[in-house]
Amino acid sequence: MSAVSKSAKRITTNTLIKMKADGEKISMLTAYDYSMAKIFDHAGIDVILVGDSASNVMAGHETTLPITLDQMIYHAQSVIRGIKKCLVVVDLPFGTYQGNSKKALASAIRIMKESGAHAVKIEGGKQVEDSIKRVLSAGIPVMGHLGLTPQSIYKFGTYTVRAKEEEEAKQLLSDIKLLDKIGCFGAVLEKIPATLAKKAASSVAMPIIGIGAGPDVDGQVLVSHDLLGITHEFNPRFLRRYMNLFDDIADAVTHYIKDVKSTDFPNKKESY
Ligand code: KIV
Repeated sequence: MSAVSKSAKRITTNTLIKMKADGEKISMLTAYDYSMAKIFDHAGIDVILVGDSASNVMAGHETTLPITLDQMIYHAQSVIRGIKKCLVVVDLPFGTYQGNSKKALASAIRIMKESGAHAVKIEGGKQVEDSIKRVLSAGIPVMGHLGLTPQSIYKFGTYTVRAKEEEEAKQLLSDIKLLDKIGCFGAVLEKIPATLAKKAASSVAMPIIGIGAGPDVDGQVLVSHDLLGITHEFNPRFLRRYMNLFDDIADAVTHYIKDVKSTDFPNKKESY
């Protein structure tokens, strides 16, 4: 059986475009390791994003800037080993595509070749057009990312809502149309007014995935550590927590420590 026919039931970039056309919402979550990816794929997630938010939630950095291409490839390889069906998109990290389209292509090729991922994500619009076009020209699907783009945090100065002013909103609409026109298969819109996100989503054919962009887009993405309540001190308005794993894990570990200290663990049944 060929690789193509084996993957007939897989979610592809075309599946997502069709989902938008059919009005079916797209679910996307970040994952960075084999075990979590396996659970999310089993649960039926449409897209896993190996986000450069790994820099924050896996490595403990304050921003996404420090994570390297090698580290992103390591996370992507682990995720790919855990999934059977969903589409896996990998962030091109800071410094691997800006201002140099040849470097962008080389970085994207390394991700595709070394991890087996299905697509890459690139932050920015007009200013990274050349990089996106060159990556696309090699047959590598590209997802865009506009609005709050965390790799530009030192330009913005804060993580507050973007494009509230008319000029930035106009630029965002122009950028989203550009990404659609040059052939991106989708884009993330992060932390922008819901009305603007709705306008953006209805003005392009590619699916728009929102995070803090309201309900009138084609799908939603969250950082999995936020959804699961592992990052319990991060509480933006857009976040819905489905678990409180920080407390649950801490309780389990406290219980384990108590059992070890009291010699309750291991008992006879747990010994050979
Ligand atoms: O890196 C990431 O997790 C992201 C999401 C916030 C969309 O880009």
